[in-house]
Amino acid sequence: MLKVGLIGAGFMGAMHANCYKNLEGVELCAIADIRSEKAKELAEGTSAQLFGDGKELIANADLDIIDICLPTCLHAEYTALAMEKVKYVFVEKPVTLTSAESDMLLEKQRETGAFVQVGQVIRFWDEYVKLREIVESGIYGKIVNANFRRISPTPTWGWKDWLRTPELSGGAAQDLHIHDIDYALSLFGKPERLASVRNIVGEKNSYINTIMQYKDFPVTVEGTWFLPGTHPFEATFRVVFEKATVEKTADSFILYTDEGATPISIEKEELAVSGTAAGNISDLGGYYNELKYFTDCAKLGTPVEKATLSDAADSIKFLLEKELMASI
Ligand SMILES: NC(=O)c1ccc[n+]([C@@H]2O[C@H](COP(=O)([O-])OP(=O)(O)OC[C@H]3O[C@@H](n4cnc5c(N)ncnc54)[C@H](O)[C@@H]3O)[C@@H](O)[C@H]2O)c1
Repeated sequence: MLKVGLIGAGFMGAMHANCYKNLEGVELCAIADIRSEKAKELAEGTSAQLFGDGKELIANADLDIIDICLPTCLHAEYTALAMEKVKYVFVEKPVTLTSAESDMLLEKQRETGAFVQVGQVIRFWDEYVKLREIVESGIYGKIVNANFRRISPTPTWGWKDWLRTPELSGGAAQDLHIHDIDYALSLFGKPERLASVRNIVGEKNSYINTIMQYKDFPVTVEGTWFLPGTHPFEATFRVVFEKATVEKTADSFILYTDEGATPISIEKEELAVSGTAAGNISDLGGYYNELKYFTDCAKLGTPVEKATLSDAADSIKFLLEKELMASI
C-alpha cells in the first residue's frame, strides 16, 4: 500500500483526497492543514493522522508520497522539504511564484534525486489528451490556427483571500493562464514571436490575452477570472486544421469537416472503484488521471516523465518572461 501525505486541505486538497480515496493500492495516511477542521473533514472515511502545519507532517509521518496543495507562495519551501523526505512529490500548479524558486527546486531535485510531478492537469484532461493525439497524427493536415480559452468567476474561496492577492498567487496570469500556456508549449514548443495584453482597471491582472506566432500558424490564448459569480467556468479550444476543425465547447467536443459535424468520443477507462469515496470518478476528470499516473510511477518505482518539475519550471519562466515583455 502506497502511503500518501497531503498538505493543504482546501479546495484542491479536497479534490486530491477524493482521487486518492478512489485509487487502488493507495492510502491517505496523513493530512495537514493549519485549519484543523479542514483536515478533519478530508480524513472522513480514512484513518489518516492529522497535522497542523505541513512541516509537522513532513517531519513526523511515515510516507511514500507527499502531495502539496498549499497556496502558491508556499510551494517552493514545502516542496524542497518534501523532496528531502520522500522520493515522490506532487505539487500543484503553478509550480512556484518566481523563476528563482523554480531554479532552487531544480537544484534540490539534483541533490535528492526525488521525482516531482506538477499539477498541470490539462495535460491529463481527456479532450486535451485527444487533441494531442490528433495533432501528432497529422491526420487532418497542417494546423492553420488555434485558440484556447479559460474563463472563470472570481475565485473567492482561497484561505485569507490569497488567490486575489497577486503577491501570493501571481494573479490570473500565473494561476489560470498557465494551464493553457503550459499545454500550448507542450504541444507546439516555443513560438517565434509573442505578444500579451492584460487589464489594468477592474481587479488588476485578472484578464490576459496572449498571441503566440509559430512558423506556420498563430495560437491565441485567453484567460480571465473577473466574471460574476453567476457565470459558469469554461475551458474551451478550437483548433483549425487544413482539412477539419476540432472544437471543445463547455458541453461538446466536435470534429467539423465539409461533410458534417461528428461528436468525438472519448474512451473512458473502465474503473473498478474500490476506494473509500462515494464520488463519481468522471467528476474528478484530469485530476484523477494525473494522480493515477503519479501513483502508478510511485508503485513501480519509475521516474515521473509527464508534467515534470522541469516542464513546469520552463512554463513558469516562459510566462514570467513574457509578462515582462508585455509591460504595456
Ligand atoms: N490544478 C487546478 O486546476 C487547480 C485549481 C485550483 C487550485 N489549484 C492550485 O492548488 C493550490 C491550492 O489552492 P486552493 O484553491 O486549494 O487554495 P485553498 O486556499 O482552498 O487551500 C489552501 C489550504 O492550505 C492551508 N494552509 C495554508 N498554510 C498552511 C501550512 N503552512 N500548512 C498546512 N496548511 C496550510 C489553508 O488553511 C487552506 O486550507 C494552489 O497552488 C492553486 O493554484 C490548482
